[in-house]
Amino acid sequence: PSLCVSHYAVSRDTGECKYETGLPFILADLSSFSNTLKRCRNEKTESSVFSQRTEEASAVQYFQFYGCISQQQNMMQDFVRTATYHRAILQNHTDFRDKVVLDVGCGSGILSFFAVQAGARRVYAVEASSVAQYAELLVKNNHLSDKIIVVPGKIEDISLPEAVDVIISEPMGYMLFNERMLESYLHSKKWLKANGMMFPTFGDIHLAPFSDEQLYMEHYSRANFWYQQCFYGVNLSSLRGAAVDEYFRQPIVDTFDVRILMARTVKYTVNFMDSEEADLHRVEIPFVFQLTQSGLVHGLAFWFDVAFVGSLVTVWLSTAPTEPLTHWYQVRCLLHTPLFAKEGETLSGKVLFVANRRQSYDIQIVALVNQTGFRSGNILDLKNPFFR
Ligand SMILES: C[S@@+](CC[C@H](N)C(=O)[O-])C[C@H]1O[C@@H](n2cnc3c(N)ncnc32)[C@H](O)[C@@H]1O
Repeated sequence: PSLCVSHYAVSRDTGECKYETGLPFILADLSSFSNTLKRCRNEKTESSVFSQRTEEASAVQYFQFYGCISQQQNMMQDFVRTATYHRAILQNHTDFRDKVVLDVGCGSGILSFFAVQAGARRVYAVEASSVAQYAELLVKNNHLSDKIIVVPGKIEDISLPEAVDVIISEPMGYMLFNERMLESYLHSKKWLKANGMMFPTFGDIHLAPFSDEQLYMEHYSRANFWYQQCFYGVNLSSLRGAAVDEYFRQPIVDTFDVRILMARTVKYTVNFMDSEEADLHRVEIPFVFQLTQSGLVHGLAFWFDVAFVGSLVTVWLSTAPTEPLTHWYQVRCLLHTPLFAKEGETLSGKVLFVANRRQSYDIQIVALVNQTGFRSGNILDLKNPFFR
């Protein structure tokens, strides 16, 4: 083993050729070596939880995206996001002081640096995309190689030399669930000590009916391109139906004035302490909205909050339309046919999220105005949103 350890230290340390022998390095190098072995074995024999649930093409595109420095920068520059994580971690310094931390999907390593600032003894920074090499560079040049150990690979595949006290991560996608990274976050609990904590601790997805005639008409107008019967002499109209279907399958990512909301929100909580990966394969959210205004319901609006429940304070990161805008915006799903309803009436139904192998979800919505029996619904593809 010592041969492997010192050899690995040399080849990883491309700049200088020094032998590092401190305990964290030996443990990390051993674990990296064992990860490499496992990966080799996995390729030939079993596939990991991640590869079983993900199409190869989707994973390649996904990790190429996060391998770009510009994408990491985009997230880091979301001030609400990054500053809230910083506050949540530093204001709960007692949860980090002298603790061992796991950063799931560390990207640039920014959250790992925050953990060290809060007093963490050691941080394992796991990252599957090629940005791991840049995280390693930042760690080295910030003189934190004795504390932050970058572990390249997927959280589902890697192994660590010890269990951890705290898991930090930023695994939220559009509508909370997109990317299916929450499952990787939950998977990482196999490394968490019995009394360990998850940061963030739970997530709330909020939904509410909205009225927005302009948005609805915009979608129809786009599809109406295909209504033309003489486009350079070609009749396109047989594809108009398919075009409408395709546009309506797209969840719309943008923001809006809260006055378009027609009822108080319904909330669905995912507790990251208790939940398991399989709980996110099929998420059913039943709703009953009591309408606070009369009009046409064009669809449902979604956003999420996550909470960091620390020993000292609970800090919230909110993507609500009443709060400063984040790079998650809000997401709206149109109904195929708008539903007329009056103030005081109830709109009931459900939203069903079914996970797919493209690291996203098929969304099914059914809605009914109880007093009139009017029904509508839609099926949407969260992987292919419309950025308005
Ligand atoms: C939303 S970014 C967050 C990056 C960084 N933690 C931050 O807050 O700026 C998520 C990161 O997790 C990585 N990631 C996603 N799934 C992963 C997995 N299963 N194992 C390891 N890394 C993963 C992605 O490559 C990406 O860099």
